[in-house]
Amino acid sequence: MTEPKKLFVKTYGCQMNVYDSQRMQDVLAPLGYQSVDSAEGADMVILNTCHIREKAAEKVFSDLGRVRKHKEAKEANGGEKMIVAVAGCVAQAEGAELMKREPMVDMVFGPQTYHRLPEMVARANRAIGRNRIIDTDFPAEEKFDHLPQQVSSQGYSAFLAIQEGCDKFCTFCVVPYTRGAEYSRPGADVIREARQLVAHGTRELTLLGQNVNAYHGEAPNGGEWTLGRLLRELAEIDGLDRIRYTTSHPRDVDDDLISAHRDIKKLMPFLHLPVQAGGDRVLQAMNRKHTNADYREIAKRLKDACPDLALSSDFIVGFPGESDKDFEDTMDIVRDITFIQAFSFKYSPRPGTPASAMEMQVPEKVKTERIMRLQVLLAEQQLAFNRNSVGKEMDVLLERRGKYEGQLVGKSPYMQPVHVSGLPETALGSIVRLKITEALPNSLGGELVDATKNDQKSERNVA
Ligand code: 5AD
Ligand code: SF4
Repeated sequence: MTEPKKLFVKTYGCQMNVYDSQRMQDVLAPLGYQSVDSAEGADMVILNTCHIREKAAEKVFSDLGRVRKHKEAKEANGGEKMIVAVAGCVAQAEGAELMKREPMVDMVFGPQTYHRLPEMVARANRAIGRNRIIDTDFPAEEKFDHLPQQVSSQGYSAFLAIQEGCDKFCTFCVVPYTRGAEYSRPGADVIREARQLVAHGTRELTLLGQNVNAYHGEAPNGGEWTLGRLLRELAEIDGLDRIRYTTSHPRDVDDDLISAHRDIKKLMPFLHLPVQAGGDRVLQAMNRKHTNADYREIAKRLKDACPDLALSSDFIVGFPGESDKDFEDTMDIVRDITFIQAFSFKYSPRPGTPASAMEMQVPEKVKTERIMRLQVLLAEQQLAFNRNSVGKEMDVLLERRGKYEGQLVGKSPYMQPVHVSGLPETALGSIVRLKITEALPNSLGGELVDATKNDQKSERNVA
């Protein structure tokens, strides 16, 4: 048997990239590539990059410096070749420039072309001397059609991409340029992939898309499925116990989705619904297509439909033209809605986006002051929610071993990590009812309530 080739994939950025990296590994497995956890000595290194904020893009270039050293070491004295590839959104946005700036990069490919990886790898390996490859087309449809039909085991909690790209064109955002136009996978393909994952042991599924609730996939019998409808279909799958979806846009929360939150027990009561800012002038300049009042209304309708639903959000502070009053509107909406988790960023101008050319850029010092205030408030809300969980019972999907001997870690319905001690490792993969006994800023501790309330893990195991 030939030795497996070593593949190191480093993932930056969003969950969609995590999913893409996994599929790249699936695509390369038949060529004999096995994943390793370091670039040192690898036969192929893929950096699956993120372009959303300046810092994320810069990180890629500093990591490339490190990879160069490993490549030089491996190839020294007639040693074997290391293929270095840059994938993802930096590749899409800066492909040609990247090739120029980093002569040792062999391959650059965007998020829509990794189904063609085997062919690219074969070309790179055949090359005598250098044969640099760049593939940044936009065939989203073709990609999903040509990825392997069989997905590998993804663990108890898995991602499934159902939608890609975005047509919203928020003025700060690179996604419509790097990921292209909205595309929804046909419903039947999604159901098939979900069933396969469940057959491999998955109990919790997170549906992914840049704008996931804009989903409008072809229905098996003609017509289209909305996300709400797709959720209903997925909820029918035996053995699938928890469903989530991310990331959503407030404008695309429709009646169907709200009623899905009312009716589907398997749909977790936790929703990431970015508001970005509270000031109406800023929301308009961001081209968010919703006002402060619209967001409040949507949040209310969701909470009316599902009273235990909690929200998380993304925020941008210091968008061009954001006044003190606009920022106070952001603070107010946070106080009124309360978010149990959040990501907040200082606005960073991205090349080619309309906002980067706007006047009235906010000084760095002001951005820093605002983000600090916002983050204090958000952290208070998160901690208050965690503290409020103490004494309550929660169903926790046990996913991995903890840091300490005899400790397991799972996830609550609200995505809080929960630690529990004294359960055997065979409990991994089960959903147990825990009484929450301890709250920290980013996690909870719990203990088993009553064995009779806990599910018996089925025979299925993660292969
Ligand atoms: N500057 C700062 N934050 C940004 N985001 C997207 N683009 C920018 C930018 N140019 C944030 C948004 C988005 C999250 C994924 O990243 O809050 O929801
Ligand atoms: Fe970017 Fe706006 Fe689309 Fe989200 S909805 S991916 S922020 S353009």
